Amino acid sequence: MTKPKILITRPWPAGAQAYMQSRYDVTVNDAAPLTPAQLAEAMTQYDALCPTVTDKLTPEVFATPNTRVRMIGNFGAGYEHINIDAAKSAGIVVSNTPDVLTEATADIALMLMLMTSRRASEAERQLRSGGWKGWGTTALMGQSLQGKTLGLVGFGRIAQATAHKARTALGMEIAYYSRRQAAPDIEAAHGARYVASLDELAAQADVLSLHTPGGPETHHMVNHRLLSLMKRSAILINTARGSVVKEDDLAEALAAGTIWAAGLDVYEREPIVHDALLPLDNAVLLPHLGSATVETREAMGMRAARNVDQFFAGEAVGDRVA
Ligand code: 8YV
Repeated sequence: MTKPKILITRPWPAGAQAYMQSRYDVTVNDAAPLTPAQLAEAMTQYDALCPTVTDKLTPEVFATPNTRVRMIGNFGAGYEHINIDAAKSAGIVVSNTPDVLTEATADIALMLMLMTSRRASEAERQLRSGGWKGWGTTALMGQSLQGKTLGLVGFGRIAQATAHKARTALGMEIAYYSRRQAAPDIEAAHGARYVASLDELAAQADVLSLHTPGGPETHHMVNHRLLSLMKRSAILINTARGSVVKEDDLAEALAAGTIWAAGLDVYEREPIVHDALLPLDNAVLLPHLGSATVETREAMGMRAARNVDQFFAGEAVGDRVA
């Protein structure tokens, strides 16, 4: 039997990629990320695609005549770059890779909390540029997180892992807002208090950490209006999706001292970072590192592979999202 033809749009960690190559007729694109025209072409050439967050699978791509692709096994948990309605209309199965990146992404949320609250990037820049003049009683004072309120926007797997780490490692109090209140046992496990509106949570939080999906429903949820409800001492953390934050408004708020600091791992127009954020000492800016550990990226590849295997074995696809 001929093996299904699969396109992996960006090279995977070695183990997961070798696994795919041992089972399928795999092409790996190791050049630049694919253009919309190349993605459309790929739709006619392969039985399955394994894309990443950098591949925009738009309704136009799904409308490609003579589409051969029947399955999209996304390498990543977030899938707002894939138009799910268009995939469904085209009868194409889509899966993602949840669970395996939960801890790694929550670690980055904590890292950003510590880096912002303790002014780590600013301090290191000062040292490297020769500006450190020695220890000082009031030099580079940050803020303690102990006993402060972590306000989580969204309360899915990554938010809950962040709550656990922040509570046990940093002694923070946990509050959250999400469309649906979590079950009492989940709230109890994290000592988490539900706040019924985002505005309320923004006003109460010392650290506001975003854990929603991207997409139209959360687009620019954090904007001038919401930022102006926050405490002047507050910190904003975003490890979710750049589209959730209106970067123009955030840069303005950070420059004006409307809020104290922001720690970002994701951006509206990746890999472009808003010009006005770059010079700000109170912005900690990481290049989308959420899941970037060897262990996690291998696990993401194996999770995507499992979904592809299930599809071609005619089984139910475990992480099916369309
Ligand atoms: C991934 C992520 O590296 O999985 C996600 O949703 O944000 C990242 O950590 C990326 O999406 C891979 O496609």
